[in-house]
Amino acid sequence: MERFRVTGGTPLVGEVRVTGAKNSALKLMAVALLAEGRTTLRDVPAITDVTYMAELLRRLGAEVDRDDDIVTVDVPAKVRFAAPYHLVRRLRASICVLGPLLARCGAADVALPGGDAIGSRGLGLHLAGLEKLGATVTVEHGFVMARAGRGLRGGNVWLDFPSVGATENLLTAATLADGTTVIDNAAREPEVVDICRMLVRMGAKIDGIGTSTLRIEGVDGLSSTLHTTVPDRIVTGTWAIGAVMTRGDVTVLNGRADHLEIVLDKLAYAGATIDTADEGLRVAMWDRPRAVDVVTLPYPGFPTDLQPMIVALNAVAEGTAMVTENVYEARFMFVNELARLGADVRTDGHHAVANGRPRLSAAPVAAPDIRAGAALVLAGLTAEGETLVSGAHHIDRGYPNFAGQLNSLGAHVVRESDPDHFDA
Ligand code: EPU
Repeated sequence: MERFRVTGGTPLVGEVRVTGAKNSALKLMAVALLAEGRTTLRDVPAITDVTYMAELLRRLGAEVDRDDDIVTVDVPAKVRFAAPYHLVRRLRASICVLGPLLARCGAADVALPGGDAIGSRGLGLHLAGLEKLGATVTVEHGFVMARAGRGLRGGNVWLDFPSVGATENLLTAATLADGTTVIDNAAREPEVVDICRMLVRMGAKIDGIGTSTLRIEGVDGLSSTLHTTVPDRIVTGTWAIGAVMTRGDVTVLNGRADHLEIVLDKLAYAGATIDTADEGLRVAMWDRPRAVDVVTLPYPGFPTDLQPMIVALNAVAEGTAMVTENVYEARFMFVNELARLGADVRTDGHHAVANGRPRLSAAPVAAPDIRAGAALVLAGLTAEGETLVSGAHHIDRGYPNFAGQLNSLGAHVVRESDPDHFDA
C-alpha cells in the first residue's frame, strides 16, 4: 500500500498532456470482443484498470498486449462467455463485456460487480434493456446470466435515466441483433460517442451518434479495427481545477475544451482566464477563486466525476456555494476527509455547502475512490504543511503517473510506501 506525501503552497504551472479516457478505453477493449481478429487501440492510459480489463479479456480467450500507449486485442473465432467474480469485482467497468458477449456468443455469465464507495450502482436498466432485445436474463448466485439462444433481435428501449453503462451494453448488443434497435434517452457522453465511432469503423450501422436517440441497424458481422481513444475530459478537468485552486497556470495538451464547456464556464465564473487552442487548453488564475454553485447531471451537464474537485475548490474559494450531486447517492463521503484539512463543508443529502477558507491545514487523509482521491491531493496542494493521502492505488486506477505529472507542474508530491497501513 502506498500514499502521497503532498507539500502544499506551490502553484501548478506548466504543460501537461492528457492521454485517452479511462472510461472510453476500457469499453473499447470490450468492444473488440465483437469481431474476430486483431484490434489496435491507441492512446490507452497507463492505469491499473486497463491492466484488470486486459486480464478479464484474456480469461475470455483474447490475447492482449500492451506497448506503451498501444493496446492490441486479438480475439479468437470462439470466445468464452463467463466473466468470474474475482476479476469483475476489481473494476465495475467489466460489466461492459455483457453486451459484446451476448451479441457474439448468444450467452453471457458476468459476475455482479457490486456497489462501491460512491453509491450502490444498480444494473436494472442494463438488464431490462437486454430483455427488450430478446434476451432472457436472470440473476443467480451473484451472476447476471443472459441468454439469447436464437440470437438477439432489434427492439425499442426507453431508458429511465441516460445511464452510460446501460447505453453502452445495449449499443454493443444491438450491433449484431436481427433488425433495428432504438435506444431513447441514451447517454451522450463523449466516451459513448467514441464507442459509437469505433463500432461504425468496425462496420456497425448507427444513426444519431451524440444525440439521445440512437438507432442501430443490426449487421451480420463486424471486423477488427484501429482506433484512437478520445482524450480524457475528467483528467483534463482535474488539471484545470487544480490550476484554479493553486492559483497556477496550466496548459493541458490534447485536452478537449468542447467536452468541458460547462466546467470551463464555471471556472471562468470563479475568475480563471481560459484560452482554448487546437492543441489543448490553458487555464490560469491570478487571484483567490470565487466559490461556484454546481449541479451534477449526465452529459452535457456538469460531470459527477469532477464533483469532488469542485467541492475542494469551493473549500478554498472566496464566499459560500452549494454543490448538488444528482448522479450518485453517496458521493459526498470524502467531505469528512476534506474536513480533516480544515475545510468548512456541510452536507445534507444531495447537497454540499462550502464556506471557503483562505488556506487549509495539512493532515493525514484517506482516498476513498479515484476522483475523491485526486481531489484530496489537490486540496493538499493548497494546504499549509504536508498532507498524507493514503490509498494511492485508488488514484492509480484513473490517473497515469499522477505524482510525476504534478511534479512536472512544480508541485512537491512524493509517492511512498504507507507504513501506517495494515490489513485487519
Ligand atoms: N443506475 C441504476 N441502474 C442502472 C444503471 C445506472 O440505478 O441500470 C444508476 C447508478 O447506480 C448511478 C447512476 O445511475 O447512480 C449513473 O450510472 P451510469 O450507468 O450512468 O454510470 P456507469 O456507467 O456505472 C460511468 C463511469 C463513471 C461515471 C458515470 C457517470 C465508467 C467505467 N464509469 O459509470 O465513472 O461516474 O458513468 O458519468 O465508465 C469514474 O471514472 O470515477 C466513474 C465513477
